[in-house]
Amino acid sequence: MENINKGKSPFYPGQPVPVELFTGRMNEISRIQRAISQVEQGKFQAIFLTGEYGIGKSSLAGFARALAEINYHLFGIHILLGNAKTIDDISAKTIQTVLQTPAFEPKVFENIRNFLARYVGKQELFGFGINLEVLKTDAPQISRGYLPFLNDMLSKLSEQGIKGLMLIFDEINGIADTPEFAHFIKSLVDENALRKVPVPLLLMLCGVEERRYEMIKHHQSLERIFDIVEIYPMNDSEMTEFYIKAFDTQGIKVNDSALSSLCHYAQGFPKIMHIIGDAVFWLDKDNYIDDYDALNGILTAAEEIGKKFVDHQVYSELHSKDYHSILGKIGRQCTDLSFNKKDLESGLTIAEKKKFNNFLQRMKKLKALKSGNQRGEYVFLNRLVPLYIFLKTAKIELPK
Ligand SMILES: Nc1ncnc2c1ncn2[C@@H]1O[C@H](COP(=O)(O)OP(=O)(O)OP(=O)(O)O)[C@@H](O)[C@H]1O
Ligand SMILES: [Mg+2]
Repeated sequence: MENINKGKSPFYPGQPVPVELFTGRMNEISRIQRAISQVEQGKFQAIFLTGEYGIGKSSLAGFARALAEINYHLFGIHILLGNAKTIDDISAKTIQTVLQTPAFEPKVFENIRNFLARYVGKQELFGFGINLEVLKTDAPQISRGYLPFLNDMLSKLSEQGIKGLMLIFDEINGIADTPEFAHFIKSLVDENALRKVPVPLLLMLCGVEERRYEMIKHHQSLERIFDIVEIYPMNDSEMTEFYIKAFDTQGIKVNDSALSSLCHYAQGFPKIMHIIGDAVFWLDKDNYIDDYDALNGILTAAEEIGKKFVDHQVYSELHSKDYHSILGKIGRQCTDLSFNKKDLESGLTIAEKKKFNNFLQRMKKLKALKSGNQRGEYVFLNRLVPLYIFLKTAKIELPK
């Protein structure tokens, strides 16, 4: 039974990590820091923060914003453009974000609230609301003068010693593939370059590589505008540091071999690291994570990821009985991340063999598998996937 009175879980599956638990990424931070410092000194900079899904783009952007505000006199606006489809949506979201994100410096927040008083709605139970009607009416005008709007905001904030802005466009999936967005970014940059004194601005976009390609497709010269900062999977020492730090906030210790199992299965993916960590946190009963807790947590996490990803995507996409039996055979034979096509093929039935190539292609399309470096080698993108398939297969085979 889980202990529900355990206190606050230091794990945040599915949410950017709070600044105090942010770990590693030293090289990427120092590159962003250089740009932040240039903006503090009056320049314009543009960064495209990229990396695969769940690798930590939003978390790094959030951490960089804190750094820019606390150490470099910038004001940060981290906008989640999730459902934005038009430039007017961006304008409205910009104001909404500013009003709804407390600045690290309370005086700054007070000032910005006065500047945007037009959009402040009625006092609500928790804080204040946004006057969406006025926001909607004004949005087209702000879109036409987005840069002057930013500049006015900055002038107002300079009363508090703010020297520049950090504008983060995150979750750009819905808008990156529109010509309007590419042109909006391009004009923002050009307009700023043509000003007598540029607005000191760090423009940061966060998205997977495809989003950047989509934008370049609409406007070739965007390719040259951005410095690309790419985030890769974490190394073992980053993961270890994170787990020790996270558990320590709750007075929990972890033994070395448990730690190395957690890192082995998290495989450098921060998203998986948090899912596993959270499972272990809730299973632990004595504030000491040993091998048994780690293993149970990993199995729970495999189950969770398996139900979400493997069941809903892989199993439901690959309907045929042969596909399922091939998966089962892989689950049994693939003890780690990869398998060789030839080795596996020898254990297949004639019917399965016929479908094997198709199966591999579809698994690749589902992003469950990728080709390895060796000839005929296939690698699972996530170690918990073969583990889940193994568990599921093993369960099917258990005598009733
Ligand atoms: N440096 C870090 N230290 C600790 N945890 C992190 C770090 N970076 C990311 N995480 C955690 O990893 C998970 C994914 O992070 P995040 O949401 O920032 O990734 P993302 O690349 O923005 O994902 P998406 O592509 O879905 O937008 C979250 O649970 C987050 O808390
Ligand atoms: Mg994100």
